[in-house]
Amino acid sequence: MFYEPKNGHGLPHNPFNALIAPRPIAWISTRDSEGHDNLAPYSFFNGVAYEPPQVMFATTGGKADRALGKDTLDNIRDTGVFCVHVVEEAATEAMNTSAGSYARDVDEFSRAGLDRVDCDMIACSRIMNAPAALECRLTQITQLPGAANHVCFGEVVGIHLRDDCLVEGKFDVTTFRPLARLGYRDYAVVRDAFTLKRPGE
Ligand SMILES: Cc1cc2nc3c(=O)[nH]c(=O)nc-3n(C[C@H](O)[C@H](O)[C@H](O)COP(=O)(O)O)c2cc1C
Repeated sequence: MFYEPKNGHGLPHNPFNALIAPRPIAWISTRDSEGHDNLAPYSFFNGVAYEPPQVMFATTGGKADRALGKDTLDNIRDTGVFCVHVVEEAATEAMNTSAGSYARDVDEFSRAGLDRVDCDMIACSRIMNAPAALECRLTQITQLPGAANHVCFGEVVGIHLRDDCLVEGKFDVTTFRPLARLGYRDYAVVRDAFTLKRPGE
């Protein structure tokens, strides 16, 4: 089949995000200007540069009482910082709980039963036992076409790696099994990996 998105797909569910899969999930903690912690997953997410390390995520749609759509982005606009956590298979339920459309002052760390500690480089909480946590400073927010579509870019200024995830000096995904987002309400778990050298290596 072929379709032009502006004319509709004619399928029971929008296939768009099933075409861009699997996607890593950024589990993002922020703090609002009154000190309330916030936590939510974002799978329109990726790394975009090595030196200095930078990441991006996108928010789409939103809540009527938010200037930029969602609590995460509004908090980042106010404070200039955020922390991205890697989601392991064991945290699937907690991640999903944190995605609920709660009121602004609801603390998703508590809702999801997650322990927190302070970040080292930024004024923000982080999940205590995440496989990895990337402390980030906002570099820019870019408005995209459409209503309440924004991309947020940040520079990673501090990185926490859980000790048991390091095997012979490498961050080993088989130790924690990353959760990935597929289309619809579907997910995948990375349970094994293989190595492929590039031509000439
Ligand atoms: C696995 C997963 C991935 C998600 N990815 C995104 C995303 O990339 N962009 C987005 O706007 N919402 C995404 N959502 C929905 C948000 O997590 C949800 O709207 C949440 O309530 C936002 O919380 P906040 O207002 O505290 O930022 C995702 C939800 C789940 C469960």
